[in-house]
Order: sequence, then structure tokens, then C-alpha cells
Amino acid sequence: MTTIYLDYNATTPVARSVTEAMLPFLQDHYGNPSSSHELGELPREAIALARSQLATMLRARDDEIVFTSGGSEANNLALKGVMFRHPPADAHLVISAFEHPAILEPARFLERMGYGLTLLPVNSSGLVEPQQVAAAIEPNTRLVSVMHANNEIGTIQPICEIAALCHQQGVLLHTDAAQSIGKLKVQVDELGVDLLTVAGHKIYAPKGVGALYVREGVELEPLVHGAAHERGLRAGTENTAYLVGLGEAARRVDEQWCERASRLEELRDQLLSLLSDKIGQPLTVNGCDAPRLPNTLSLNFPGVVGNDLLAAAAGLCASTGAACHSGETRLSTTLAAIGLDPDVARGTVRLSLGWSTSMEEIEEAARVLGQAWQQLASSTQQASCQQGDDG
Ligand SMILES: Cc1ncc(COP(=O)(O)O)c(C=O)c1O
Repeated sequence: MTTIYLDYNATTPVARSVTEAMLPFLQDHYGNPSSSHELGELPREAIALARSQLATMLRARDDEIVFTSGGSEANNLALKGVMFRHPPADAHLVISAFEHPAILEPARFLERMGYGLTLLPVNSSGLVEPQQVAAAIEPNTRLVSVMHANNEIGTIQPICEIAALCHQQGVLLHTDAAQSIGKLKVQVDELGVDLLTVAGHKIYAPKGVGALYVREGVELEPLVHGAAHERGLRAGTENTAYLVGLGEAARRVDEQWCERASRLEELRDQLLSLLSDKIGQPLTVNGCDAPRLPNTLSLNFPGVVGNDLLAAAAGLCASTGAACHSGETRLSTTLAAIGLDPDVARGTVRLSLGWSTSMEEIEEAARVLGQAWQQLASSTQQASCQQGDDG
């Protein structure tokens, strides 16, 4: 049985050129990048190159990049880094209701410490409305954080408009771009953001590495104190190999994202059309009224439970949007935020494509899913007929 991986929003494989760039720094060039002797030189230069590759991808300056252990740490540094510069009684934070836990949880932690917190509603199309942001800003709001693209339904948020509103009121804007980089154009000046999160393992670099873009002049309180690494914002000897890998991944993204994105969109739309044919009923797509990531398809399969469907779809790796326990449906934060009916959300499956997804995989995924749906839907129908007979 072959495996078809359609869960690229969860993580991506490490690209071959990324592994090749990293290997010498795992095997040979072990020097501490801070060492002034000759063994420190190559690692130091390699990290400088990685920083400039990341900055080039974002059209930022090299000294605006802070390396981190991944998207979660970058989000924590953005939120806590800004808020910790103010006393809790004098600082308010605004985030959207469907942020990733890597934003929701630090925000709730800050709220427990006494900071003000407002959760912005998301409309049924999966968008944060700029006027809601304007309405949520208070005189002591220090930071707004709205994700660039949602990880589950892929809707792309109006970050430029939100940035303009924030700046009119002297408020900083952070965006979590973990899901948009590699699929969309992500350039900090075009978006107008002050802080932006990068997660390596969503762009074909390893897990456990990422970065925070910090616009020149934005002051942050460090979370990890120690020596003066990363301009004093994050102490700890650099993980040279992983940073080199992240740099190479950023170089690939900058060179290839545009061409890759249009192919992803074609494949995704082909998948939807094949599946609709197989199911023979209208399939609703979450977020379809909004601009969406080209690789993401959040579908509501009628009459089945998403987990059962994926369990029956042999060899297909994808995600669901709701957990069902003892007849109760617990919706994901995103599906709850867009107000999806729990009965519909039971059948939600997220299919997310990657740069190496092929047409053969799309055809096979549609075949396997279609077959699994037929099986489950007909057994559910039989069970309800029997119940009707018994009753
Ligand atoms: C939108 C978003 N933000 C943040 C993260 C966390 O990134 P990391 O796994 O690198 O900590 C993820 C990963 O799932 C994500 O999808």
C-alpha cells in the first residue's frame, strides 16, 4: 500500500538541498559560531548567510531577523516580548479567535498575569474584519496579532488593512505567517507588519527551527536571558546546522513559491472536482468565499465522521476538524470560530497539498476517499433503515 501524504499544513518533509546544506555543519564544522579562532569562522559566516537568505525572502534587513526554535517560540517572543515591556495594568492585547494555540495560549497566559485581552470574532467566511480590529483597539492596546493564513481552512486575512488601522492608532501588528510562507507572497513592507513569525518545518526545513521578524525600532523584552546572541533577544549557542537549513529553505521559497503556488492551486481544484464527482452530492468547502491558500482544502463530507472516513481511506494521511467522543462533537477552534454547524463539522477533513504532490496522488486520493465515503455512507444508511424497521 502506498502512502499519500496530504497533510503539508501539519509539516513538510525536509528538502534534499536543505539536508545537503546542513550536513557539513553536523559532521565537520562543529566550531562555536562565537569563537574567535578559525573553527568559529565558517559557522559564523554560514549563520550570517542564513540570516540574509531569510531577510531576502521577507524583503527585510538582516538585523531584523531573530532566530528561534520554531513558530511557537517566535509567537511567544512576539506577544510576551512586547507586553512584558509594560505593566499589566497598562497593556492590552488583541488577537483573533482562530489563532493557532501558539498564539492563543501565550495570550491566555498574559491574561492570567493581569494583561487585558480581546479576542476578535471571525466571520462565517473565515475572515477577521478590519473594522472589528478598529473597534477592539483601546487607549492602552500595545499589540494586535492576526494570523496571515489560517492553518485549517487556509483563509488569508486582510493584513495590509489591519496594519494601516493599527498604525493609525500607534499599535504594533504581529502576524503568524507559519502557513503562508511558501504558498503566498510574504513581504514585510507590503504587509505592513511590525513582527512576523516563520516556522521552518512548514517550508521544507527541519522541525525545531524558526524565526521572528522584528521591525527596526520595535523593542522586545527577551524571554531567554544569557549571553548576547541574537542581539540580546535570545541567548544560547546557535544551532548552526538548523539555521543553515532554514536559510536554504528560505532561498528555495524565494526562488520558487510563485510557480509552485499556481500548480498547487490547479491540483487542489482538480481534487475537489474529482471528489465531487465521486460523492455525487454537493461538497461544501470551508472558507470558499474568501481568498484562500492555494494548497488547502477543508471539506465537509456529508453523513460521515471525518475520523472514520480517514481510517477507511487506506494509505491517505490528512487531518480532521472535529473530534467525536461518546456521540459528542468537539469542534476545532477554527471551525467553532467560523460558526460551522457541529453536524456538518463532524465530516470535516483538511487536505493540504505540498510542492511535491503529483497528479497521480490527487487521483488516487480522490479514488480512496470516494470509496471510503461510499462504504461508510451506505453502512450508515443501512443502520438507519434497520433502526426504522425495528422501531
Ligand atoms: C499557524 C501556525 N503557527 C504556529 C505553529 C507552530 O510552529 P512550530 O511547530 O514550529 O512551533 C504552527 C504549526 O503547526 C502553525 O500552523
